[in-house]
Amino acid sequence: MLERLEELRHEGLTAVEASNSEDELREIEVRLLGRKGALTDLLKSLGTLPKEDRPAAGQAANRVKQEIAAQIEVARGKLHAFNLATDLAGDGLDATLPGPKPPAGGLHPLGQIARELEDVFQSMGFRIADGPEVELEDNNFDALNIPADHPARESHDTIWVTPEGDGRGKGKGVCMRTHTSCVQIRALREHGAPLRVVAPGRVFRQETPDPTHDHTFHQMEGLVVDKGVGVHHLLHAMNTLLEGVFGRKVETRLRPGFFPFVEPGFELDARCPFCKTGCRVCKQSTWIELMPGGMIHPNVLRACDIDPDVYSGYAFGLGLSRMVMLRYGIDDIRWLLSGDLRFLEQFRA
Ligand code: DAH
Repeated sequence: MLERLEELRHEGLTAVEASNSEDELREIEVRLLGRKGALTDLLKSLGTLPKEDRPAAGQAANRVKQEIAAQIEVARGKLHAFNLATDLAGDGLDATLPGPKPPAGGLHPLGQIARELEDVFQSMGFRIADGPEVELEDNNFDALNIPADHPARESHDTIWVTPEGDGRGKGKGVCMRTHTSCVQIRALREHGAPLRVVAPGRVFRQETPDPTHDHTFHQMEGLVVDKGVGVHHLLHAMNTLLEGVFGRKVETRLRPGFFPFVEPGFELDARCPFCKTGCRVCKQSTWIELMPGGMIHPNVLRACDIDPDVYSGYAFGLGLSRMVMLRYGIDDIRWLLSGDLRFLEQFRA
């Protein structure tokens, strides 16, 4: 038995040594170590040995098996390295073959809609304004004529950066901006009147996420200040905007709405672009709440050193997240910032 084992060991190692292809190595593997291989046969015949000899013979056979298997692996490694080296040396390397294709990115649907809207507004003479996401309480609330005791300032609505008692509520706090309306203040203070700007961006609220609320979402604030600006200008801009987005005229209507920074304030609705007689999106009413807006409150103009007796203006707050959801029939806002590729890949432009 041990002699036969030694024979097989010798046979195996010599064959591995002499081999120079994967096929040959594979053949040796099958012939000696495979399910019907010589070594396996030998192991199976252990039962014919006297009982006391079996453990030693079994161990010896396993050692030989492992030794041959190990040598086969070593030979494979060498063969692979050799093949690679010859490939790289010129033979068989085709440097003109296309490489692996990196996955292509795309614009997020929020970015796509923001760009489309920016285009439409720029064509109407607006410029794009920007502001920080961490904002002064004065810009986010006070200068917008929001009273000191307004519930929106409470920490169950606003995410504060300054600790409680540290100036907040007195106009000296710092918070995550709760809307893009604060960019109105920055832009008016920086550029004065006349001015036309839109300001797209992220806003933050203390919110438990559910299908219609998220702690982070997107808005686009718009503002026009000039001499003799009236509600009809606001309506005209909105109609132009809708035509740009939907590629045709869309009917609109105004309802009264209240916001401290506008007087009068409105809710602007658009005729549902998806149906004629009522559908799921417009909740069977054929109207969709599109955005709030209004004529800028004199106190806001004064806070920006603009004389309300000379200038007037309108402002509006477009919900970008809402527009994306409307456009694509997305029923849960949490998809938007989920980062889930299964969702995002559907919007590759
Ligand atoms: N800032 C408001 C919000 O986040 C939206 C808004 C309402 C903006 C009326 C405006 C406006 O400019 O006139 O809910």
